[in-house]
Amino acid sequence: MKKLIPLLLALVAPFAAAQTQQGVPEDHRQLVKMPAPAQAAQRADMLDHLAALNEILGYAAEGKWQDASDTAEKRLGESSMGKYRMALRGQGPGRFMPEPMRQIGWSMHSAASQFAKTAREGDSAKSFAALQQVMASCVACHMSFRTR
Ligand code: HEC
Repeated sequence: MKKLIPLLLALVAPFAAAQTQQGVPEDHRQLVKMPAPAQAAQRADMLDHLAALNEILGYAAEGKWQDASDTAEKRLGESSMGKYRMALRGQGPGRFMPEPMRQIGWSMHSAASQFAKTAREGDSAKSFAALQQVMASCVACHMSFRTR
């Protein structure tokens, strides 16, 4: 009996592993390699993007479109570009992105600046529509590319 259990485990273990692997979704996104500092800069940006979106939605819920506009322009819009140019000496994340990925990045910044402009006019329906364009860029990039 003492010998039987390890033997049974040895027989069952690979089977169990195969079983769990079956349920794991595959990742079909293109892997983009970046040096560690660029990747760290991107990660910091991403965390701030998410926090900024949350802040924008909070302002939107209170009808504070001016504040939503300011946050969007400063933290997601064209004004937020090129933050690492000095610190990373031109080795920021954008430099390592394949062209289509970089294009999506640019379209995110321009969608955010467009939202900032629209939100300043205070029309809720138009502002939400413009905000959705920003999120569409987050989704487009995330569905196509990964860095790890
Ligand atoms: C140009 C491409 C691109 C755009 C646009 C983009 N991301 Fe990302 N984001 C990435 C990549 C690449 C990663 C790394 C994840 C990976 O490799 O799987 C990432 C990671 C993240 C992470 C995880 C950070 C961590 O490590 O915990 C968050 C959160 C995130 N993005 C939020 C956003 C939000 C919100 C937006 C839109 C406002 C956005 N991203 C737009 C490419 C992008």
